[in-house]
This record gives sequence, structure tokens and C-alpha cells, in this order.
Amino acid sequence: QTGYFTYDPGFTSTASCSSKITFIDGDNGVLLYRGYPIEQLAEKCDFLEVCYLLLNGELPNGAEMKEFVTTISKHVMVHEQLTRFYSGFRRDAHPMAVLVGVVGALSAFYHDGTDVTCREDRYTAAIRLIAKMPNIVAMCHKYSTGMPFIYPKRKLGYAENFMRMMMGDPCDEYIPNPILIRAIDRILILHADHEQNASTSTVRLAGSSGANPYACVAAGIACLWGAAHGGANEAVLNMLEEIGDASNIPEYVAKAKDKNDPFRLMGFGHRVYKNYDPRAKLMRQTCHEVLDELNLHNDRTFKLAMELERIALEDPYFVERKLYPNVDFYSGIVLRALGIPTEMFTAIFALARSVGWIAQWDEMISDPELKIGRPRQLYRGVPQRDVQPISSR
Ligand code: SDX
Repeated sequence: QTGYFTYDPGFTSTASCSSKITFIDGDNGVLLYRGYPIEQLAEKCDFLEVCYLLLNGELPNGAEMKEFVTTISKHVMVHEQLTRFYSGFRRDAHPMAVLVGVVGALSAFYHDGTDVTCREDRYTAAIRLIAKMPNIVAMCHKYSTGMPFIYPKRKLGYAENFMRMMMGDPCDEYIPNPILIRAIDRILILHADHEQNASTSTVRLAGSSGANPYACVAAGIACLWGAAHGGANEAVLNMLEEIGDASNIPEYVAKAKDKNDPFRLMGFGHRVYKNYDPRAKLMRQTCHEVLDELNLHNDRTFKLAMELERIALEDPYFVERKLYPNVDFYSGIVLRALGIPTEMFTAIFALARSVGWIAQWDEMISDPELKIGRPRQLYRGVPQRDVQPISSR
């Protein structure tokens, strides 16, 4: 696989920035986090190991992992005042609206106004975000249901802690299903980072102005919300609900091809992958594992999704344009099978991507050469002209 890392001046002329964290080869369907193939990380690591890798550049050994887990566990609580922030929202507020607000508000609790430049302060901000996001995201869901918040338990694993806070009942003991917990952990790994996607570029651009890391991540959350980006997993389920029955698929596929119709098949296509999204293959496998475990293979929505996937993968329009199912096509089905409400899907994507955002922010702050700086524009407006008095306009 030579050539991946050949220095190609032509390519770098279109690159928005350089980074050592994640490598994507869209034509060959390759995704590497710090040089490790996503397939191997998803199979052999858990999400916190991947967090350590993204932040530090190397996978942890046993002692390093133990220390990292202990450090994260010390920061899982949020300031009690922050939990009152939620009550300012309507119960039916979209979780992403709440998340943007609450994560931005972390600046008021954990940022003292001084520049976050030294490695120790940057690392502390990263640890805080990774540790607190499961609690913050779970509270978005609990608040919407009127259920009380469930506090984290320091001794639980990352994914189990999140699912307990998110789906647990404070009146009952939470009994984790290891297969479902592993599925959530894999979703977090697959969504952890993805080079310079729109939300990561937003975080880096915000960081280049010196904004604090919590404010930068809040900006990334706002960008991720878009249906063309992180909102796609929610949009996939909404689309499947709208299609309703396999007999309606041809009508929607025709709409997706119609240039006069803004409708796009949600969960298909990608700005970079012109081959199969490697994450989608892994997500599809997880999807089948979860549906097997929950005996949901006859689930109407899943059967509809598989029929849509079959038709699209055979249709010349999609084949010619190399439009394959992306990670969001399957992740939404898995999350729905886990009983997670559709409106929470993008918030879970944000939970996962927070480590990628903060790792990329940290890399940029550590090396001024990596700052995006201030983009310039190509002006295509009217040439300079003089203001005329209103009486003669
Ligand atoms: C994510 O950047 C990242 O890394 C993002 C992400 C991450 O991890 O951060 O991977 C997460 O955002 C995944 C993408 C999720 N979005 C969706 O699933 C929404 C549906 N997808 C489309 O909106 C679209 O595919 C985009 C926005 C993702 C990409 O759009 P592009 O760049 O226009 O795709 P393209 O250049 O490959 O399009 C080629 C052709 C065009 O038609 P023609 O002009 O050649 O006739 O394919 C068409 C497009 O109009 N096309 C689609 C389509 N996606 C592209 N037609 C129908 N349905 C679609 N989904």
C-alpha cells in the first residue's frame, strides 16, 4: 500500500490544514487513527483506549490505561449548578439545542478566562470533556422525559456508565447487556474522529481565534447538527419512517435522482469516500449483531432499510456516482434497536466526536503552524460605486 503517504504537492494545495491524527483514503475506503486501521481498533480496543490514542498518539500500555481510566473517572461529575441549566429549556427542545448550550456553558465553570496554551491545561480540558460528555448527553435525554438525572458511577466502564445514565431507571438496578454495551462502545469508536469534516474544521477555526476549548466544541456541536453531516443518522430514521413500506422505495429513489427535487437519500454518499465507508461495513456488522441479540431481524424498519440498501446498490445512478451507504445509514438503525429516541442520535454522535474535536484542537494549539487562520474569499460582488442621495435612487 505504497503511495498513501507520498508527499503530493498537488494534493496539499487543496488541503485546508495538515494533521497527524487521522488519515482517510476515500478512493480505497481506508481510515486510520494515528496509523491504526479502524477495523483493528474497532475489534481490539475500547473507546477509552481510542481516546488515549487520539490524544497521545500511541495506544496505552496496561499501566497507562489504568491511570487514564482512573483520571477520567475522577472527572465524570458536572458542577451541580450546570444541571440547573437544563431547566431553562422546554422539555421538547431538540437535544442538540440543549447540548450546544450546556457544553458552551462549561466555559463558565471550567475556564478561568486565561489562554489555554500549556499542554497540562490543554490535557485537563480534554479529560474533562471526555469524562463529562456522557453525563451531559444523558441528562439531555432524561430532561426531555421528565425523569430525574442519574449520576455516573466511577467504577463502571465508559459505555456502560453512559447507557445506565441514559436508559437506566433510578428506581431499578441497571442490568447491562454486554452485547449492547459493546455496540455502543463501537459506535463511539467509529465516530471518534474523521479528519477535517465540517464540525472538526469548525472547532479548529474557532480555536485559531483563541476561544476556549469548551466554546470551540460547542461550535462543533452546532455544525454537526446539520442533516448533511451529523444529523444524517436521525434523518435516516425519519426518511425510513416517511417511506413506510418497501413498495414506496422506487418513488423515493426517483426523487433522490431528480435534480429538481432537493430530496437526498439520507445515509448514502460521502464527501470523501468514493468507495465503501469502512465504518459502514463495521456498523453494518454491529447492526446485525444487535438485531440478532434482540431478535429484531423482522423489524419493519430494519427490513425496509435492507431493501433500500439492496435497491440503491443495484441502481446505476448510485453505482455510477459511487454512492454507498455511509456510517450514518446503519448507526441510526442500531441506536433505534437499543431503544434510543431518534432525536438523541446526533447527540450521541457528538459524544463520540468530542474526543476527535478536542484532540484536533489540542494539536492545532500545540503547533501554530497548524492553525487554519483567517480564510480569504473570492469577491464576486459588484465593483466599487458611489452612494447616490435617496431622492435620486
Ligand atoms: C457524515 O465529512 C465527514 O467526514 C462527515 C462524516 C464524519 O464522520 O464527520 O463522515 C459524517 O457527515 C457522513 C455523511 C452523512 N450525510 C448524509 O448521509 C446525507 C446524505 N448524503 C448527501 O447529502 C451527500 O452524499 C453528501 C453531502 C454527504 C455529499 O454530497 P456531495 O459532496 O455532493 O457528494 P458527491 O459529490 O459524491 O455527489 C455526486 C453526485 C451528485 O450528483 P451529480 O451532480 O453527479 O448528478 O451524487 C449525488 C450528487 O447530487 N448525490 C446524491 C446523494 N449524495 C450525492 N444523490 C442522491 N442521494 C444522495 N444521498
